[in-house]
Amino acid sequence: MEDELLLMLPGPVPLPERVRGVMARQAINHRGAEFGSAYADIARVLKGLFGTKNNPLVISGSGTAGMEAAVSNLGKGRRTAHLINGKFGERMYTIGQKYASEACPIKSEWGAPLDLEKLKSVLEDGCEVVTMVHNETSAGILNPAGEVGKICRKHDALFIMDGVTSIGGDMVLADEWGVDAAVVGSQKCLAAPAGLAAVTVSDRAWDRIVENPPYYLDLPAYRKNAAKDPMETPFTPAVPLFLALREACLIIEEEGIDNRIARHRRMAGAVQKAVKAWGLDMFPKTDSLHQYSNTVTAACLPAGTNDKDFRGTVKKLGIQIAGGQDHLKDKIFRIGHMGAVSAPELLAALAATEFAVKKSGHQVKESGVMTAAEDLG
Ligand SMILES: Cc1ncc(COP(=O)(O)O)c(C=O)c1O
Repeated sequence: MEDELLLMLPGPVPLPERVRGVMARQAINHRGAEFGSAYADIARVLKGLFGTKNNPLVISGSGTAGMEAAVSNLGKGRRTAHLINGKFGERMYTIGQKYASEACPIKSEWGAPLDLEKLKSVLEDGCEVVTMVHNETSAGILNPAGEVGKICRKHDALFIMDGVTSIGGDMVLADEWGVDAAVVGSQKCLAAPAGLAAVTVSDRAWDRIVENPPYYLDLPAYRKNAAKDPMETPFTPAVPLFLALREACLIIEEEGIDNRIARHRRMAGAVQKAVKAWGLDMFPKTDSLHQYSNTVTAACLPAGTNDKDFRGTVKKLGIQIAGGQDHLKDKIFRIGHMGAVSAPELLAALAATEFAVKKSGHQVKESGVMTAAEDLG
């Protein structure tokens, strides 16, 4: 049964029972006190996770809706630049092409460091808006948001950051870093069901919001409705998902943001050690500014196997991990370690993966599970 699989994907992630429970109830009015208080709880917790004083605006739509909201409201008719080192950087560029007067891609290989020198020259040339994916999920690399924010400020450009798989699992300081719009998706580090995105917008970006935003993704309308008491959305929202996201946010608040980030960091470190113990290579190329992701680990597939066989072996043991996307299919595998999971789920995923590594014929140097257990215990 699909729902018995342990999802160790970079989203969707397993849902805590409390989160599942709140969705099975009678409908409520979305223009009333109960909905407003759920939205207020979400906003309070997300502000801490985004590292911002600005109200998170919650959109009924997946993470991509949040990306499109940010790019269309800040970049329509303007010159945009898009830092790319993976699939989601490319998606930002594709969205930019639909709205910008001119969209400039700044391409690196997937999983390689971003080209910040090229960014500087594009900004000197008059580009007004920059997009960057903080945690590039397709390649398992964490990009330097603080550094990019500084460069954008120096050139007075607006900075849009996709935090879809970092916010809630790694440290994000949107205001301090000079992020003008940040985006998160519900089914990733927040451990809520898929279907909601939240976007925050800085004061300087509100001052420069485009005159004619899209109809459904009109961020000023979201802002106006969120300022009401009780809080509202402009259109009928996905109410059961809001209730589930509220519960997920309360769980995060109970755990504490610092503890949550530390738990993700412990899991990421343990998986990196396991990959090393197996004698496999990590996929991303890090440097002093770019690091391995805290929420998803991408490693090279052992020679002599393919994605279908490798992940099929893991799946037969009841666990689903991710493969490479697009041209990285059959080249890498990815283990998600985000949301509410901790040592028990991670050790099971590592044991199943180690079995698949051995089954591929690869000579394992030592047990990655045991190495990870030492770190997690
Ligand atoms: C970094 C990043 N950005 C954006 C998205 C798109 O989110 P969604 O699939 O919720 O639309 C994803 C999804 O995996 C992602 O990992």
